[in-house]
Amino acid sequence: MVTKIIEKAINEQIRKEEHSSRIYLSMASWCQVNGFQGAAEWLYAQADEERMHELKFIHYLNDRGGNAHLSDLEKPATKFKALLDVFQQVLKHEEYISTSINEVYAVCIKQNDYSTGNFLQ
Ligand SMILES: [Fe+2]
Repeated sequence: MVTKIIEKAINEQIRKEEHSSRIYLSMASWCQVNGFQGAAEWLYAQADEERMHELKFIHYLNDRGGNAHLSDLEKPATKFKALLDVFQQVLKHEEYISTSINEVYAVCIKQNDYSTGNFLQ
């Protein structure tokens, strides 16, 4: 059974993974329309991957006696200056998500929830 604090932290991560998926999907669409086919395919695959991360967190939380729920999401950017701009934003976002996972991990350690800590690794 996860604590309410862990449940809250994982639900926040679920929101971030779903948001990541939508950000990459929006970038992929922009790349496809603007003739960057290879980048579009890569970003579509990233969007799927983030969706898989979201599903993993949902299944894990529900399996551990928590209650996974979805949240409102901001609309992702739909216009980009250039392909470089897209990939600079990808890098920034990946750094943000890595930091976020580390923060959830820190909460797990504080809560003595080593099972969830291991799940995050
Ligand atoms: Fe992810």
